[in-house]
Amino acid sequence: MIKEVEYRARRERVSCALKKNSLAIIFSARIQIRSNDTEFPYRQDSNFYYLTGFKEDNAVLILRRGRKTTESYLFVQKKVKELELWTGKRLGTKAAKKSFNHDDIFISDIFEEKFLSFVKEHQNIYYDFSFEDKRVDFIREKTKHFRVHFNIATLIGRERLIKSPAEIKLITKALSITKEAHHYAIDHAFELSNERELQAGIEYIFKTHGAYSDAYTSIVACANSANTLHYINNDKKLVDGELILIDAGCEYEYYASDITRTIPVNGKFTQAQKELYSMVLDVEKKIISMVRPDILRSSLQEKSEELLCKGLVGLGILQGDVKKLLKMKKHKKYYPHGIGHWMGIDVHDTCPYKDEKGKEIPLMPGMVMTIEPGIYIDKDDKSVARKYRGIGIRIEDDILVTYEGYENLSKNITKEISEIEGRDS
Ligand code: GLY
Ligand code: MN
Ligand code: MN
Repeated sequence: MIKEVEYRARRERVSCALKKNSLAIIFSARIQIRSNDTEFPYRQDSNFYYLTGFKEDNAVLILRRGRKTTESYLFVQKKVKELELWTGKRLGTKAAKKSFNHDDIFISDIFEEKFLSFVKEHQNIYYDFSFEDKRVDFIREKTKHFRVHFNIATLIGRERLIKSPAEIKLITKALSITKEAHHYAIDHAFELSNERELQAGIEYIFKTHGAYSDAYTSIVACANSANTLHYINNDKKLVDGELILIDAGCEYEYYASDITRTIPVNGKFTQAQKELYSMVLDVEKKIISMVRPDILRSSLQEKSEELLCKGLVGLGILQGDVKKLLKMKKHKKYYPHGIGHWMGIDVHDTCPYKDEKGKEIPLMPGMVMTIEPGIYIDKDDKSVARKYRGIGIRIEDDILVTYEGYENLSKNITKEISEIEGRDS
């Protein structure tokens, strides 16, 4: 769990990053309609949650930075018995004041009134430019002629880059649940008949082990389905002799995990599958071993492209000189995506990759990123030997940058061929 003192410290850091004489407004997520009058399960906005730990909708956070002081105000929905009967208990201001440490806590109904009184004293306004909401329109409208506007999401994204020990604990917990789910898949895929059944088994484990949900829609892709990078239909048969690419990770207390494993349906790799898998695994391990403070993500990207290109030449999938092939980007056909991304409250954590001057931000202790090389060979790619066609392989782990180098937070999730083949179910 993350304690209120940590949320308070985050608010303080973001407030200090505001220009003097500023007001920042951060809104809770809106309820999203699924269809007609049914709603998606509510999930708090990541930035709002990062600064408050408050999970209810219809809430607002205001941060003020004056000349010398910073202040923080939370607005929460008021308690209404008749509504709580339908949608659940609300904390209300009285209880919120006991659990949350703000300069004051008001009901949301008076947000506009308070905003208008605060705004008189402040020159600069910060809010999330990407947020589409009536309340944002209100702020824009009321301040358009005489205020300087900044995007608060940029400042919060910077703070979210470095994870605290408490955050790393939650990611580790998410990964311990995700491990169970992937091991279930290795042990049970052979007795299941389709991708969705396997997806259901994985997500059953997420929820029965205390996770709120998946951190993103699970990809369970058998055979050639794996060559669609964002395949989420998960509606095909599990075919004996084929591989399944499973990209699935749970969210635990608002923290993501993001793991891909590629496993044989029947528990044994064919020779061709082994050749491709070993090559990708080898590259993944090499790139992970390069992770350390000060290295650039782009260097990891470049190295992964070089190693995968070499591997493709080794297997005869590409022919020619590796340097020339790289220059002509021939490997991109088989490895079209990035080596990894920041991960945290969001699976693709909304932290910057470049600093204010546009310079790439190097890795620093406390950052968490995925490493996820992959090779995808379409079933109809006649330029490749038949034995490799219809195979898509990605292997993905979640890596913490440490002062010494790195810690693979998902190292306990099986990925060696001998271990996958050797598991007793
Ligand atoms: N699961 C999404 C990704 O790997 O980036
Ligand atoms: Mn990923
Ligand atoms: Mn993934």
